[in-house]
Amino acid sequence: MEKIPVAADDHIFVLTGAGISAESGLPTFRGSDGLWAGYRIEDVCTPEAWRRDPAGVWAFYSARREAAQKVRPNAAHVALAELESLIKGRFFLCTQNVDDLHERAGSAALLHMHGELAKSRCERECGRPPVEDRNVYRSLDEVGRCPCGGRLRPHIVFFGEMPLEMDRIQDEIAKATLMLVVGTSGSVYPAASFVHWARQRGERTVYVGPEQPLNADAFTHVFEGKAGEILPGLFEVEIASRR
Ligand code: OAD
Repeated sequence: MEKIPVAADDHIFVLTGAGISAESGLPTFRGSDGLWAGYRIEDVCTPEAWRRDPAGVWAFYSARREAAQKVRPNAAHVALAELESLIKGRFFLCTQNVDDLHERAGSAALLHMHGELAKSRCERECGRPPVEDRNVYRSLDEVGRCPCGGRLRPHIVFFGEMPLEMDRIQDEIAKATLMLVVGTSGSVYPAASFVHWARQRGERTVYVGPEQPLNADAFTHVFEGKAGEILPGLFEVEIASRR
């Protein structure tokens, strides 16, 4: 298999999606056995759904928490953590995933642009930061309140809400010389645009996943296969000489 050379002055920006956690046993969203085949986005992942039926939204995310707590990072998560350790300071990982498998594999320069399953925050956006919360709620009565009185909601970016830390993401893409995208169908924006931003800057753009994403044309390299099989050994890292 072709290898991607990483020079001593390369900066890598990585975007991951649900596909990287598939080999750990977590379902993706789209496709015949994906989460969105069993649930309607409008019922569980929009501000309107939260206003109309907070119990239903919590039931969905409680089930996601339960599933995420049962699985472990796979070879793809580990390969990215190892790559980061080889080129510390020149690596940034942005994930659309809300599970914590990247951090459990050892990734450190990491941003969850769609939120985190293991956190909750005030529904009133009162300014208090998200709190760690791994509870699996069986009913709405069990869900806590913020000191301001607002109900806690999942720390998840619902459809129609702004992804988190877009300024930082743009800065990191501007620094990068190589963009690696893993396991995302390219159907949700703005994440699906990142590769176009990188191409406009002339960056190399690499995709890894078993099928072509919707934005496949914007990649300079597409590796078709499972992330856990392709990522370990994909990069040839030039180690800076220490003189
Ligand atoms: P999708 O379900 O849209 O796409 C998952 C991708 O992973 C598909 O392209 C699969 O081909 C690929 N895939 C499957 N198995 C894989 C494997 N072993 N290795 C690598 N790739 C594999 O999920 P996302 O693109 O992540 O947003 O979805 C984006 C956003 O839509 C999510 O963050 C979520 C969802 O609705 C929110 O909840 C806000």
